[in-house]
Amino acid sequence: MSFPITTLARREGALFLEDVALENIAAGFGSPTYVYSRAALEAAYTAWSRALQGKRARVFYAVKANSNIAILQLFARLGAGFDIVSGGELARVLAAGASASDVVFSGVGKSEGEMRQALAAGVRCFNIESEPELLRLEAVAKRMGLRAPIAFRVNPDVDPKTHPYISTGLKNNKFGVAFDEALRLYRYAAASAHLAIDGIACHIGSQMLERDPIADAGGRVLELIAQLNAEGITLKHIDLGGGLGIRYRDEVPPAVSDYLGPLLAKFAGRSEELCFEPGRSLVGNAGLLLTRVEYVKHGESRHFAIVDAAMNDLARPALYEAYHEIVPVAARELTPHTYDVVGPVCESGDFLGLERELAIQDGDLLAVLSAGAYGMAMASNYNTRGRAAEVLVDGEAVHLIRERETVDSLFAAEKLLP
Ligand code: LLP
Repeated sequence: MSFPITTLARREGALFLEDVALENIAAGFGSPTYVYSRAALEAAYTAWSRALQGKRARVFYAVKANSNIAILQLFARLGAGFDIVSGGELARVLAAGASASDVVFSGVGKSEGEMRQALAAGVRCFNIESEPELLRLEAVAKRMGLRAPIAFRVNPDVDPKTHPYISTGLKNNKFGVAFDEALRLYRYAAASAHLAIDGIACHIGSQMLERDPIADAGGRVLELIAQLNAEGITLKHIDLGGGLGIRYRDEVPPAVSDYLGPLLAKFAGRSEELCFEPGRSLVGNAGLLLTRVEYVKHGESRHFAIVDAAMNDLARPALYEAYHEIVPVAARELTPHTYDVVGPVCESGDFLGLERELAIQDGDLLAVLSAGAYGMAMASNYNTRGRAAEVLVDGEAVHLIRERETVDSLFAAEKLLP
Protein backbone atom coordinates (compact mmCIF):
# COMPACT_ATOMS: atom_id res chain seq x y z
CA MET A 1 0.00 0.00 0.00
CA SER A 2 1.20 3.51 -0.71
CA PHE A 3 2.14 5.87 2.11
CA PRO A 4 -0.54 8.26 3.40
CA ILE A 5 1.94 11.08 2.73
CA THR A 6 1.89 11.25 -1.07
CA THR A 7 5.23 13.03 -1.39
CA LEU A 8 7.00 10.28 0.57
CA ALA A 9 8.63 7.50 -1.45
CA ARG A 10 11.27 4.83 -1.19
CA ARG A 11 14.12 5.15 -3.70
CA GLU A 12 16.62 2.30 -3.81
CA GLY A 13 15.76 1.38 -0.26
CA ALA A 14 16.01 4.88 1.19
CA LEU A 15 13.06 6.99 2.25
CA PHE A 16 12.70 10.39 0.57
CA LEU A 17 10.31 13.24 1.29
CA GLU A 18 10.06 15.09 -2.02
CA ASP A 19 13.69 15.02 -3.23
CA VAL A 20 15.34 14.93 0.16
CA ALA A 21 16.62 11.74 1.81
CA LEU A 22 15.37 11.60 5.40
CA GLU A 23 18.76 10.20 6.38
CA ASN A 24 20.29 13.53 5.35
CA ILE A 25 17.83 15.47 7.44
CA ALA A 26 18.74 13.48 10.52
CA ALA A 27 22.44 13.96 9.71
CA GLY A 28 21.96 17.72 9.34
CA PHE A 29 19.46 18.50 12.07
CA GLY A 30 19.48 15.56 14.45
CA SER A 31 16.45 13.77 15.80
CA PRO A 32 13.66 13.79 16.75
CA THR A 33 12.70 16.21 14.00
CA TYR A 34 9.37 17.05 12.42
CA VAL A 35 9.68 17.14 8.66
CA TYR A 36 7.04 18.74 6.42
CA SER A 37 6.56 18.68 2.66
CA ARG A 38 5.76 21.94 0.98
CA ALA A 39 4.27 20.17 -2.04
CA ALA A 40 1.95 18.16 0.22
CA LEU A 41 0.85 21.29 2.10
CA GLU A 42 0.12 23.07 -1.16
CA ALA A 43 -1.68 20.09 -2.65
CA ALA A 44 -3.91 19.85 0.43
CA TYR A 45 -4.75 23.54 0.25
CA THR A 46 -5.38 23.33 -3.48
CA ALA A 47 -7.86 20.48 -2.96
CA TRP A 48 -9.87 22.82 -0.75
CA SER A 49 -9.61 25.85 -3.00
CA ARG A 50 -10.56 23.80 -6.09
CA ALA A 51 -13.56 22.30 -4.31
CA LEU A 52 -14.73 25.82 -3.48
CA GLN A 53 -13.84 27.42 -6.82
CA GLY A 54 -16.54 29.68 -8.18
CA LYS A 55 -18.37 29.75 -4.84
CA ARG A 56 -18.50 32.61 -2.36
CA ALA A 57 -16.38 30.64 0.06
CA ARG A 58 -13.18 30.87 2.03
CA VAL A 59 -10.79 28.61 3.89
CA PHE A 60 -9.66 29.67 7.37
CA TYR A 61 -6.83 27.34 8.35
CA ALA A 62 -7.24 26.11 11.95
CA VAL A 63 -3.93 27.29 13.39
CA LYS A 64 -4.10 24.89 16.35
CA ALA A 65 -3.33 21.94 14.07
CA ASN A 66 0.16 23.22 13.31
CA SER A 67 1.10 26.75 14.23
CA ASN A 68 4.66 27.07 12.96
CA ILE A 69 4.90 30.57 11.50
CA ALA A 70 6.51 29.35 8.27
CA ILE A 71 3.51 27.10 7.68
CA LEU A 72 1.13 29.97 8.45
CA GLN A 73 3.13 32.13 6.03
CA LEU A 74 2.84 29.47 3.33
CA PHE A 75 -0.94 29.28 3.75
CA ALA A 76 -1.25 33.08 3.88
CA ARG A 77 0.58 33.27 0.55
CA LEU A 78 -1.88 30.77 -0.89
CA GLY A 79 -4.72 33.03 0.17
CA ALA A 80 -5.97 31.33 3.33
CA GLY A 81 -7.57 33.07 6.27
CA PHE A 82 -6.97 31.75 9.79
CA ASP A 83 -9.07 30.30 12.59
CA ILE A 84 -7.45 31.04 15.96
CA VAL A 85 -8.24 30.12 19.56
CA SER A 86 -5.92 32.35 21.56
CA GLY A 87 -4.10 35.65 21.64
CA GLY A 88 -0.93 33.65 21.14
CA GLU A 89 -2.23 32.25 17.87
CA LEU A 90 -3.25 35.74 16.77
CA ALA A 91 0.30 36.96 17.41
CA ARG A 92 1.65 34.06 15.33
CA VAL A 93 -0.67 34.78 12.42
CA LEU A 94 0.39 38.43 12.41
CA ALA A 95 4.07 37.45 12.70
CA ALA A 96 3.57 35.25 9.64
CA GLY A 97 2.55 38.33 7.67
CA ALA A 98 -1.19 37.71 7.51
CA SER A 99 -3.79 40.36 8.19
CA ALA A 100 -6.09 40.36 11.24
CA SER A 101 -8.99 41.01 8.89
CA ASP A 102 -8.49 37.43 7.64
CA VAL A 103 -8.83 35.95 11.13
CA VAL A 104 -11.78 34.39 12.93
CA PHE A 105 -11.44 33.96 16.67
CA SER A 106 -12.94 30.71 18.04
CA GLY A 107 -12.72 29.15 21.50
CA VAL A 108 -14.85 28.85 24.63
CA GLY A 109 -12.71 30.81 27.07
CA LYS A 110 -11.51 34.07 25.53
CA SER A 111 -10.02 36.31 28.19
CA GLU A 112 -10.65 40.03 28.39
CA GLY A 113 -7.06 40.67 27.37
CA GLU A 114 -7.45 38.47 24.31
CA MET A 115 -10.64 40.28 23.35
CA ARG A 116 -8.88 43.65 23.61
CA GLN A 117 -5.93 42.38 21.60
CA ALA A 118 -8.19 40.97 18.87
CA LEU A 119 -10.42 44.05 18.71
CA ALA A 120 -7.42 46.36 18.50
CA ALA A 121 -5.90 44.23 15.74
CA GLY A 122 -9.22 44.20 13.87
CA VAL A 123 -10.08 40.53 13.54
CA ARG A 124 -12.82 39.69 11.10
CA CYS A 125 -15.12 37.89 13.52
CA PHE A 126 -15.44 36.52 17.05
CA ASN A 127 -17.14 33.13 17.24
CA ILE A 128 -19.12 33.44 20.47
CA GLU A 129 -19.82 30.31 22.48
CA SER A 130 -21.84 31.54 25.48
CA GLU A 131 -23.93 34.39 26.86
CA PRO A 132 -21.35 35.52 29.45
CA GLU A 133 -18.75 35.61 26.69
CA LEU A 134 -21.07 37.78 24.60
CA LEU A 135 -21.64 40.21 27.45
CA ARG A 136 -17.93 40.42 28.18
CA LEU A 137 -17.11 41.14 24.56
CA GLU A 138 -19.81 43.80 24.40
CA ALA A 139 -18.39 45.50 27.51
CA VAL A 140 -14.83 45.39 26.18
CA ALA A 141 -15.92 46.80 22.80
CA LYS A 142 -17.87 49.55 24.55
CA ARG A 143 -14.85 50.61 26.59
CA MET A 144 -12.79 50.71 23.41
CA GLY A 145 -15.49 52.65 21.56
CA LEU A 146 -15.81 49.86 18.97
CA ARG A 147 -18.35 47.47 17.57
CA ALA A 148 -17.30 43.83 17.78
CA PRO A 149 -18.13 41.63 14.77
CA ILE A 150 -19.66 38.38 15.97
CA ALA A 151 -21.04 35.01 14.97
CA PHE A 152 -22.60 32.56 17.40
CA ARG A 153 -21.14 29.11 17.36
CA VAL A 154 -24.23 26.98 17.61
CA ASN A 155 -24.42 23.41 18.65
CA PRO A 156 -26.41 21.47 16.06
CA ASP A 157 -26.40 18.26 18.15
CA VAL A 158 -25.19 16.10 15.29
CA ASP A 159 -23.02 13.03 15.87
CA PRO A 160 -19.79 13.36 13.88
CA LYS A 161 -19.16 9.61 14.27
CA THR A 162 -15.61 10.06 15.45
CA HIS A 163 -13.59 9.61 18.66
CA PRO A 164 -15.51 11.00 21.68
CA TYR A 165 -12.58 13.24 22.69
CA ILE A 166 -12.79 15.08 19.39
CA SER A 167 -16.59 15.22 19.04
CA THR A 168 -17.67 18.74 19.72
CA GLY A 169 -21.16 19.24 18.29
CA LEU A 170 -23.17 17.08 20.66
CA LYS A 171 -25.45 18.54 23.33
CA ASN A 172 -23.45 17.30 26.28
CA ASN A 173 -20.13 18.98 25.57
CA LYS A 174 -18.75 22.38 26.47
CA PHE A 175 -18.79 23.89 22.99
CA GLY A 176 -21.24 26.23 21.35
CA VAL A 177 -24.60 27.74 22.17
CA ALA A 178 -27.73 25.55 22.25
CA PHE A 179 -30.09 26.10 19.33
CA ASP A 180 -32.95 27.30 21.54
CA GLU A 181 -30.68 29.85 23.16
CA ALA A 182 -29.19 31.14 19.93
CA LEU A 183 -32.28 32.99 18.77
CA ARG A 184 -32.50 34.99 21.99
CA LEU A 185 -28.78 35.84 21.87
CA TYR A 186 -29.03 36.98 18.24
CA ARG A 187 -31.90 39.30 19.22
CA TYR A 188 -29.80 40.74 22.02
CA ALA A 189 -26.80 41.28 19.74
CA ALA A 190 -28.97 42.88 17.06
CA ALA A 191 -30.06 45.52 19.56
CA SER A 192 -26.55 46.27 20.87
CA ALA A 193 -24.60 49.35 19.81
CA HIS A 194 -21.32 47.53 20.40
CA LEU A 195 -21.96 44.25 18.66
CA ALA A 196 -22.30 43.69 14.93
CA ILE A 197 -23.83 40.40 13.78
CA ASP A 198 -21.67 39.00 11.02
CA GLY A 199 -22.54 35.33 10.80
CA ILE A 200 -23.13 31.95 12.32
CA ALA A 201 -20.67 29.15 13.05
CA CYS A 202 -20.59 25.50 13.97
CA HIS A 203 -17.93 22.82 14.27
CA ILE A 204 -19.07 19.33 15.14
CA GLY A 205 -15.90 17.28 15.42
CA SER A 206 -12.64 16.16 13.95
CA GLN A 207 -11.31 13.27 11.86
CA MET A 208 -14.69 12.86 10.18
CA LEU A 209 -14.71 10.27 7.44
CA GLU A 210 -18.32 10.56 6.35
CA ARG A 211 -20.15 13.28 4.46
CA ASP A 212 -23.49 13.16 6.21
CA PRO A 213 -22.69 14.72 9.59
CA ILE A 214 -21.49 18.03 8.17
CA ALA A 215 -24.35 18.17 5.67
CA ASP A 216 -26.81 17.44 8.50
CA ALA A 217 -25.23 20.14 10.65
CA GLY A 218 -25.48 22.54 7.70
CA GLY A 219 -29.16 21.68 7.35
CA ARG A 220 -29.82 22.43 11.00
CA VAL A 221 -27.94 25.72 10.71
CA LEU A 222 -30.13 26.64 7.73
CA GLU A 223 -33.25 26.09 9.86
CA LEU A 224 -31.93 28.55 12.39
CA ILE A 225 -30.98 31.06 9.70
CA ALA A 226 -34.55 30.90 8.37
CA GLN A 227 -35.81 31.83 11.83
CA LEU A 228 -33.32 34.69 12.05
CA ASN A 229 -34.21 35.97 8.59
CA ALA A 230 -37.89 35.93 9.54
CA GLU A 231 -37.01 38.40 12.29
CA GLY A 232 -35.05 40.61 9.94
CA ILE A 233 -31.64 39.41 11.14
CA THR A 234 -29.42 38.72 8.15
CA LEU A 235 -25.96 37.17 8.07
CA LYS A 236 -22.91 37.80 5.94
CA HIS A 237 -21.27 34.44 6.46
CA ILE A 238 -21.88 30.85 7.49
CA ASP A 239 -18.89 29.09 9.05
CA LEU A 240 -19.09 25.29 9.01
CA GLY A 241 -15.90 24.64 10.96
CA GLY A 242 -13.29 22.00 10.26
CA GLY A 243 -13.25 18.28 10.78
CA LEU A 244 -12.44 16.48 7.53
CA GLY A 245 -10.46 13.36 8.38
CA ILE A 246 -7.30 11.94 6.85
CA ARG A 247 -5.85 8.52 6.28
CA TYR A 248 -3.63 7.34 9.13
CA ARG A 249 -3.89 3.62 8.48
CA ASP A 250 -6.53 2.23 6.17
CA GLU A 251 -9.23 4.87 6.49
CA VAL A 252 -10.65 6.12 3.22
CA PRO A 253 -11.55 9.77 3.76
CA PRO A 254 -13.61 11.40 1.04
CA ALA A 255 -11.86 13.84 -1.29
CA VAL A 256 -12.61 17.44 -0.29
CA SER A 257 -14.93 17.93 -3.25
CA ASP A 258 -16.86 14.76 -2.37
CA TYR A 259 -17.00 15.68 1.27
CA LEU A 260 -18.44 19.09 0.50
CA GLY A 261 -20.79 17.90 -2.27
CA PRO A 262 -24.03 17.33 -0.31
CA LEU A 263 -23.37 20.35 1.87
CA LEU A 264 -22.73 22.71 -1.03
CA ALA A 265 -25.90 21.41 -2.72
CA LYS A 266 -27.86 22.42 0.38
CA PHE A 267 -26.39 25.91 0.31
CA ALA A 268 -26.67 26.51 -3.44
CA GLY A 269 -27.94 29.95 -4.37
CA ARG A 270 -27.46 31.51 -0.95
CA SER A 271 -25.89 34.92 -0.63
CA GLU A 272 -23.89 34.37 2.56
CA GLU A 273 -20.19 33.58 2.24
CA LEU A 274 -19.39 29.99 3.23
CA CYS A 275 -16.41 29.60 5.54
CA PHE A 276 -14.51 26.47 6.55
CA GLU A 277 -11.90 25.91 9.24
CA PRO A 278 -9.92 22.83 8.18
CA GLY A 279 -6.85 21.94 10.19
CA ARG A 280 -5.93 18.27 10.01
CA SER A 281 -6.85 17.85 6.34
CA LEU A 282 -4.43 20.65 5.37
CA VAL A 283 -1.38 19.59 7.35
CA GLY A 284 -1.81 16.06 8.75
CA ASN A 285 -0.43 14.13 5.83
CA ALA A 286 2.16 16.76 4.98
CA GLY A 287 4.37 15.90 7.93
CA LEU A 288 6.22 13.12 9.68
CA LEU A 289 8.25 12.74 12.83
CA LEU A 290 11.75 11.47 12.25
CA THR A 291 13.15 9.54 15.19
CA ARG A 292 16.16 7.32 15.88
CA VAL A 293 16.14 3.93 17.55
CA GLU A 294 18.30 4.23 20.65
CA TYR A 295 17.97 0.61 21.69
CA VAL A 296 16.36 -2.51 20.45
CA LYS A 297 15.32 -4.35 23.60
CA HIS A 298 14.14 -7.92 23.56
CA GLY A 299 11.96 -8.33 26.66
CA GLU A 300 10.56 -11.56 28.03
CA SER A 301 7.29 -11.31 26.22
CA ARG A 302 7.70 -8.36 23.86
CA HIS A 303 10.24 -6.62 21.67
CA PHE A 304 10.73 -2.91 22.20
CA ALA A 305 12.18 -0.30 19.92
CA ILE A 306 13.16 2.50 22.28
CA VAL A 307 13.34 5.65 20.18
CA ASP A 308 14.44 9.22 20.86
CA ALA A 309 10.96 10.68 20.28
CA ALA A 310 8.33 10.33 22.97
CA MET A 311 4.82 11.22 24.02
CA ASN A 312 5.99 14.75 24.70
CA ASP A 313 6.83 15.06 20.98
CA LEU A 314 3.76 13.27 19.63
CA ALA A 315 1.01 12.93 22.22
CA ARG A 316 -1.71 11.47 19.97
CA PRO A 317 -0.97 7.76 20.52
CA ALA A 318 -0.85 8.17 24.33
CA LEU A 319 -3.80 10.55 24.43
CA TYR A 320 -6.24 9.00 21.93
CA GLU A 321 -4.67 5.62 21.23
CA ALA A 322 -4.22 7.12 17.79
CA TYR A 323 -2.52 5.05 15.12
CA HIS A 324 0.41 6.51 13.16
CA GLU A 325 2.14 4.37 10.57
CA ILE A 326 5.83 3.82 11.41
CA VAL A 327 8.30 3.00 8.66
CA PRO A 328 12.05 2.42 8.73
CA VAL A 329 14.02 5.05 6.82
CA ALA A 330 16.43 2.42 5.45
CA ALA A 331 15.15 -0.92 4.20
CA ARG A 332 17.17 -3.71 5.85
CA GLU A 333 17.64 -7.42 5.28
CA LEU A 334 17.05 -8.29 8.94
CA THR A 335 14.63 -10.65 10.61
CA PRO A 336 11.59 -8.58 11.40
CA HIS A 337 10.12 -8.64 14.89
CA THR A 338 6.92 -7.28 16.30
CA TYR A 339 7.93 -4.19 18.24
CA ASP A 340 6.31 -1.76 20.59
CA VAL A 341 7.83 1.56 19.55
CA VAL A 342 8.26 3.47 22.78
CA GLY A 343 9.90 6.66 23.98
CA PRO A 344 12.26 7.43 26.87
CA VAL A 345 9.56 9.11 28.99
CA CYS A 346 8.74 7.45 32.31
CA GLU A 347 5.15 6.47 31.60
CA SER A 348 3.75 3.18 30.36
CA GLY A 349 1.54 5.21 28.02
CA ASP A 350 4.63 6.58 26.29
CA PHE A 351 4.37 4.77 23.01
CA LEU A 352 4.28 5.87 19.38
CA GLY A 353 3.03 2.56 18.06
CA LEU A 354 2.28 -0.91 19.40
CA GLU A 355 2.92 -4.29 17.81
CA ARG A 356 4.57 -3.08 14.64
CA GLU A 357 6.37 -5.49 12.38
CA LEU A 358 9.77 -3.89 11.75
CA ALA A 359 13.18 -5.01 10.49
CA ILE A 360 15.44 -2.69 12.47
CA GLN A 361 18.57 -2.43 14.56
CA ASP A 362 20.03 0.05 17.06
CA GLY A 363 20.71 3.42 15.48
CA ASP A 364 18.15 3.07 12.69
CA LEU A 365 15.87 5.94 11.79
CA LEU A 366 12.10 5.61 11.77
CA ALA A 367 9.51 7.90 10.23
CA VAL A 368 6.27 8.28 12.15
CA LEU A 369 3.80 9.28 9.46
CA SER A 370 0.75 11.57 9.32
CA ALA A 371 2.21 13.69 12.09
CA GLY A 372 1.75 17.14 10.53
CA ALA A 373 -1.44 17.91 12.48
CA TYR A 374 -1.64 18.04 16.28
CA GLY A 375 1.92 16.77 16.49
CA MET A 376 4.36 19.58 17.24
CA ALA A 377 1.40 21.79 18.15
CA MET A 378 0.68 19.55 21.15
CA ALA A 379 4.30 18.85 22.12
CA SER A 380 5.36 19.52 25.69
CA ASN A 381 8.55 19.65 27.74
CA TYR A 382 7.63 16.72 29.99
CA ASN A 383 10.72 15.07 31.47
CA THR A 384 12.62 18.28 30.64
CA ARG A 385 12.87 17.29 27.02
CA GLY A 386 13.43 20.13 24.59
CA ARG A 387 10.91 20.15 21.79
CA ALA A 388 11.95 18.81 18.39
CA ALA A 389 13.32 20.79 15.48
CA GLU A 390 11.00 21.42 12.50
CA VAL A 391 12.18 21.28 8.91
CA LEU A 392 10.32 21.95 5.70
CA VAL A 393 11.43 20.35 2.45
CA ASP A 394 10.71 21.95 -0.89
CA GLY A 395 11.96 19.87 -3.81
CA GLU A 396 15.65 19.44 -3.06
CA ALA A 397 15.73 22.37 -0.66
CA VAL A 398 15.57 22.00 3.10
CA HIS A 399 14.53 24.84 5.41
CA LEU A 400 14.93 24.76 9.17
CA ILE A 401 11.68 26.38 10.35
CA ARG A 402 12.18 25.83 14.07
CA GLU A 403 15.36 25.14 15.93
CA ARG A 404 15.49 22.32 18.43
CA GLU A 405 14.84 23.68 21.91
CA THR A 406 17.86 23.91 24.16
CA VAL A 407 17.74 22.67 27.72
CA ASP A 408 18.81 26.12 28.98
CA SER A 409 15.73 27.67 27.44
CA LEU A 410 13.51 25.19 29.29
CA PHE A 411 14.24 26.66 32.71
CA ALA A 412 15.31 30.15 31.73
CA ALA A 413 12.11 31.62 33.17
CA GLU A 414 12.42 29.77 36.47
CA LYS A 415 13.81 31.42 39.61
CA LEU A 416 15.86 30.02 42.46
CA LEU A 417 14.68 30.92 45.96
CA PRO A 418 16.55 33.76 47.72
N1 LLP B 1 -12.54 24.74 14.15
C1 LLP B 1 -12.75 24.54 15.47
C2 LLP B 1 -13.65 25.41 16.20
C3 LLP B 1 -12.09 23.47 16.12
O1 LLP B 1 -12.31 23.27 17.41
C4 LLP B 1 -11.21 22.63 15.39
C5 LLP B 1 -10.51 21.53 16.03
C6 LLP B 1 -11.02 22.90 14.01
C7 LLP B 1 -11.72 23.95 13.43
C8 LLP B 1 -10.13 22.08 13.16
O2 LLP B 1 -10.56 20.76 13.05
P1 LLP B 1 -9.84 19.74 12.06
O3 LLP B 1 -10.11 20.18 10.63
O4 LLP B 1 -8.39 19.77 12.35
O5 LLP B 1 -10.48 18.46 12.39
N2 LLP B 1 -5.98 17.10 19.07
C9 LLP B 1 -6.97 16.30 18.37
C10 LLP B 1 -7.89 17.14 17.50
C11 LLP B 1 -8.60 18.25 18.25
C12 LLP B 1 -9.45 19.09 17.35
C13 LLP B 1 -9.90 20.31 18.05
N3 LLP B 1 -10.64 21.24 17.26
C14 LLP B 1 -6.24 15.23 17.56
O6 LLP B 1 -5.02 15.18 17.61
O7 LLP B 1 -6.88 14.42 16.90
